[in-house]
Amino acid sequence: MERLDKFLCDSGVGTRSQVKAILKAGRVAVDEKVERDCARKIDPDTQRVTLDGEIPGGKRRVVVMLNKPAGYVTATEDKAEATVMELLPEELRRLDLKPVGRLDKATEGLLLLTNDGELLHRLISPKKEVPKIYYARHEGTATLPDIQAFAAGLTLRDGTVCRPARLEPLGAGESLITVCEGKYHQVRRMMAARCMTVTYLERLQEGALKLNNLPRGAVRELTEAEISALET
Ligand code: URA
Repeated sequence: MERLDKFLCDSGVGTRSQVKAILKAGRVAVDEKVERDCARKIDPDTQRVTLDGEIPGGKRRVVVMLNKPAGYVTATEDKAEATVMELLPEELRRLDLKPVGRLDKATEGLLLLTNDGELLHRLISPKKEVPKIYYARHEGTATLPDIQAFAAGLTLRDGTVCRPARLEPLGAGESLITVCEGKYHQVRRMMAARCMTVTYLERLQEGALKLNNLPRGAVRELTEAEISALET
């Protein structure tokens, strides 16, 4: 059993004081009967709580796509730096979302966040091998031997061996890089191993999911169909 106001807060309905006002306004029902008492004890497994006639949504599984700007660290908390959590609107911040993998502070682009712990672990598992596509600006120009070295599985300067990856030069100092793993600073280190310092990095795609025209700094929820595609 738990308090009705706590249940509603945890479900992402609002803050304690917002939930109090919502209850006072008679918008919440327990087993079809309007309930105004914050302290009412309920059993969420057997009782039906509705807000404006609908099941409150917060405990539902949520996966969001963020177009991360540079300057934010991928963490839920940080004492010194701004985190990607600060980019989420208030109603999403309450849902206990966690980043799926990480982008460096300077890297921009597609970052997923979810409150589904199992999905998160499956997506970051080394077995999953979701291809991730990055756009990089870099010093130098990628050539055929670089493409071949990426395809064969690069050895980084510290001896770490990478899985085969795809390097597609777009012109002088610009490339697309596709990797199926998520080692620390992976793309920057792979490019450095071929003597090309990355000066700008953006993740464009993860599996079938693309940033498309989601503005920088904006966030959108994935549809059920997009989530199902991620799970396969
Ligand atoms: N590779 C990097 O070097 N940095 C990122 O943020 C992502 C991939």
